[in-house]
Amino acid sequence: MIIDLRSDTVTKPTEEMLEVMFAAKVGDDVFGDDPTVNALEQKVADLFGMEDAIFCPSGTMTNQIAIKIHTNSPGELICDELSHVYKYEGGGIGFNSGLATKLIKGDFGRLSVEQVENAINPDDIHFPETQLVSLENTCNKGGGTIYSLNQIKKIKHLCVDRGLKLHLDGARIFNALVEADYTAKEMGKQFDTISVCLSKGLGAPIGSLLLGTTEDIKKARRIRKILGGGMRQAGYLAAAGIFALENNVERLKDDHLRARNIAENITDVSYIKNVWPVYTNILIFEIEDNLDLNQLIGKLAEQNLRVSAFGPQLIRIVTHLDFNDEMMDATINIIKNTTF
Ligand SMILES: Cc1ncc(COP(=O)(O)O)c(C=O)c1O
Repeated sequence: MIIDLRSDTVTKPTEEMLEVMFAAKVGDDVFGDDPTVNALEQKVADLFGMEDAIFCPSGTMTNQIAIKIHTNSPGELICDELSHVYKYEGGGIGFNSGLATKLIKGDFGRLSVEQVENAINPDDIHFPETQLVSLENTCNKGGGTIYSLNQIKKIKHLCVDRGLKLHLDGARIFNALVEADYTAKEMGKQFDTISVCLSKGLGAPIGSLLLGTTEDIKKARRIRKILGGGMRQAGYLAAAGIFALENNVERLKDDHLRARNIAENITDVSYIKNVWPVYTNILIFEIEDNLDLNQLIGKLAEQNLRVSAFGPQLIRIVTHLDFNDEMMDATINIIKNTTF
């Protein structure tokens, strides 16, 4: 039994999901003819109470499209230093949109309104014009942290006041929604655009959506085409997304419980210095300074447990749909019994 906790993107479609995919009605989505893609876009836009949505191959593409449609080079984007849009999208902010990035050290990936306000450039020709704020909920690199609605609302008010656009990288927004005291529609009210992923905790093989106004999504269709993201009979993939939304949202809580359970059981392990608090399905732990991170990852892999290196002395574990209680017990045992 291989236990793969490198990411929640490693899940494979179930028989049931595959059946729905095979049965999908499809058409050429570049012509707007694919009924299943159209149904998915409508479904997700309605869920968040937003006007329209566009189906894309990846969360990187939906984020990058959002950044492009909200800005004009030269300008500046504000985000946390741990943001996926900055750290893991290959420099796309500069490459695709010609922007500078103002990085803020937030609270495990979460920005406060004061921090955002202080990061807005004055109206002075020396500085790039601040145009966009991007938040991430949950924040991957912050350890799956969740924003409070109040924190987001304050940032939204500031953005409206200062004429800035506000984007949400909601790759794992459903993980936040099953834990937080706010709804998808409340999120929809706060942001100009939201990116959501179907291929992470929800277990679909491919796909993300960008949500926004009719006008913004029209612009997004043009940019998606330029980036090579116009897909043809994409309904086969959209069908998996619809299935995932209908079947795999509430169960995310199980992933969160398992991540917490692992965390509670490994705090006393001798080579582990610190286990970060668990908020959702991401568990990060720090190993002792004198130990070789890659050696530990190799030792775990030899016992069929796959985890990711996540920075100096940091290991990330992500629980998901293809991870059950038996695997959870095995994971705890492997971590506890590994020695140097
Ligand atoms: C927070 C966050 N945003 C965006 C992405 C990008 O998604 P994709 O891998 O589909 O490009 C990821 C991927 O893991 C992510 O964790």
